[in-house]
Amino acid sequence: MSTTGRKLDHIKIVSNEKVEAKEKTTLLEEVELIHNSLPGLDRDSIDVNIELFGKKLKIPFLISGMTGGHPDAEKFNLALAEAAEQSGSAFGLGSQRAMLEDKSLSSTYKVRSVAPTALIFGNIGIPQISEYSPSDISSMLDDVGADALAVHLNPLQESVQPEGDVDMVGLAASLKDLVKELGFPVIVKETGAGISKDVAKILIDCGVSAIDTGGAGGTSFAAVELFRKEGNELSEFWDWGIPTAASILEIRAVSKEIPLIATGGIRSGLDVAKAIALGANVVGMAGPMIKAATKGSAEVLLEIEKLRKSLGTAMFLCGASKLSELVRDKTILNGALRSWQDQRGL
Ligand SMILES: Cc1cc2nc3c(=O)[nH]c(=O)nc-3n(C[C@H](O)[C@H](O)[C@H](O)COP(=O)(O)O)c2cc1C
Repeated sequence: MSTTGRKLDHIKIVSNEKVEAKEKTTLLEEVELIHNSLPGLDRDSIDVNIELFGKKLKIPFLISGMTGGHPDAEKFNLALAEAAEQSGSAFGLGSQRAMLEDKSLSSTYKVRSVAPTALIFGNIGIPQISEYSPSDISSMLDDVGADALAVHLNPLQESVQPEGDVDMVGLAASLKDLVKELGFPVIVKETGAGISKDVAKILIDCGVSAIDTGGAGGTSFAAVELFRKEGNELSEFWDWGIPTAASILEIRAVSKEIPLIATGGIRSGLDVAKAIALGANVVGMAGPMIKAATKGSAEVLLEIEKLRKSLGTAMFLCGASKLSELVRDKTILNGALRSWQDQRGL
């Protein structure tokens, strides 16, 4: 199947089927934020601004990369990007592989008309960085006006996908070369199976500018691919991966400084607050955003405004007047997350 057909399948499946993790969770439910009964703050003046790659976000939120490459994808990208612009969020395009294969599809990724100032990430899968030169990738980013490149890692999806590419030899070296030559910040993200401290160390050694957990507990790409091919014998991998909360701890065990985006199963403003308290700078969401986008940009904006309100409430109840006051030493880690932390020496 073509790249564009596959991407459209993904949106249909995520919108119509239950493709969230089944038994696995993000483990954010194991994070307790300490209540402050005397916050001494005005809830309505809590500051949730943050800067990333030189651009100001009015909420520490990213609509994670999902789509592009098909005429139907264009309207989703426009709806999502417009809501990102209006809410002051960042916006990720889906894999731009389709436009590398067929330049005429580049219009389906062009959203600057509705998002002139938003922080926008281009997107490519790691297997493609050895197929295309840094200058091809740089022109791809220039063409859509992106500010940075997100490179996605998806060995789980490639393993379960009937036409998957499972030769990943030498890709870290290709990543290192790309980072050196590209001239754009490079973020590396997972797509629902999380990043461990060992992988984070390799990425940091490659010189990446940010890491996105893309952790387990939300959309399961193994599930999405299983819906594409009924009877797929790999169904036991539905819940595979490192839970998002654990992945934040893993990455922060390697670097306290690297900008960290927490994506994967984030479903409320309280989740956002917990992820930030664990060490994330920005938090991303994919599945629920594409579902909202089927109803249009206003619905996406509504979802983001709900998040903003609930993040503000969580911060108020913690006595945090700004994001930097949501900190790890004001959290309690329970049960499975505490056990993960202990066993991994984090
Ligand atoms: C319909 C759909 C398409 C996606 N396509 C891409 C993609 O092209 N590139 C990418 O890096 N991640 C892609 N993802 C992964 C998301 O960016 C995100 O990492 C993952 O879905 C976990 O977040 P969630 O639980 O909030 O959905 C896609 C996710 C969905 C739901």
